[in-house]
Amino acid sequence: MGLLSPEPERPIIGEWNHLEASVGARGMGKSTEQCVRARQLQTEAHGAYVIGHSLGARLPTKPPPGVGGPEYPITYHTSLDKLERGLRRHPGRWHILSPPLAGDGHKVDPTRKPETADDLLHFAMRLSTGIRRKAWETANPFRRWKPNVSYHGIECVPIIVIIDEGIAIDAASTTKKEANKWFLSFIYSIRHLHIAMLYAIQNSNARSWQILEQSTVIKVFAIHHEWALNALRAAGATEEQLEGIKTQGKYKFVPLTALDVKTLEVKSEDKVPE
Ligand SMILES: Nc1ncnc2c1ncn2[C@@H]1O[C@H](COP(=O)(O)OP(=O)(O)OP(=O)(O)O)[C@@H](O)[C@H]1O
Ligand SMILES: [Mg+2]
Repeated sequence: MGLLSPEPERPIIGEWNHLEASVGARGMGKSTEQCVRARQLQTEAHGAYVIGHSLGARLPTKPPPGVGGPEYPITYHTSLDKLERGLRRHPGRWHILSPPLAGDGHKVDPTRKPETADDLLHFAMRLSTGIRRKAWETANPFRRWKPNVSYHGIECVPIIVIIDEGIAIDAASTTKKEANKWFLSFIYSIRHLHIAMLYAIQNSNARSWQILEQSTVIKVFAIHHEWALNALRAAGATEEQLEGIKTQGKYKFVPLTALDVKTLEVKSEDKVPE
């Protein structure tokens, strides 16, 4: 694995806590906000590995006019193998898994199942183990690493994971709950894995509520459906916030930091109202 320089002060494992969800209708600026945040977090951490998944390679190429700055250093990969090699060679670039979509004019091998956002998350966990282990060994040169060592107080290059369309995570589906346990343990331990996740979804009902429950901030972009507003009301958003969500234009969002997601789930019955 190509390693970023260990020189500058890095975030401490367990103390870097960012699970940011962007929710809202198509074209409202969710992916744009994800990339703005990825760059901010990468800068704040004095460098971070940035990996992600984007259906159809649809991340913006450069920051929006109000933010400015150079183009994003994005490389799209059609498979995880290629992504891993790319990351090793260019650890400072953003490596995004974007398997070819059949409808996009690509040649798709029907015998090969395209890799999913789930596979990307498994890769992120493996990468996390590798870099935390390295950081631990650097901090404890005379001790032997074991899987259960304590990472308390250890600085480490973090990982930023961009999930451009939350719908692409099969394991976050609201059915098949048993098979999806690994995903829940992933989001519950994301801080300890030293992973920041930037997650976007158009319809928050389509994927596990626990993602929103665990989020450090939910950025609500324009929402058109009354049911979604009701769900947010049930979740404890104030009338002022709801007014903001209803009336805000494109590219604007209301950040919610303390949602009562349990109520949200109950009131919306875990379903997408028609
Ligand atoms: N803050 C902004 N200022 C100017 N243009 C913006 C801003 N945010 C987004 N845009 C433009 O709006 C378009 C849609 O943005 P973006 O792809 O981020 O939306 P999205 O919510 O991710 O949409 P989708 O649900 O289709 O993925 C893009 O062309 C982008 O350049
Ligand atoms: Mg998008």
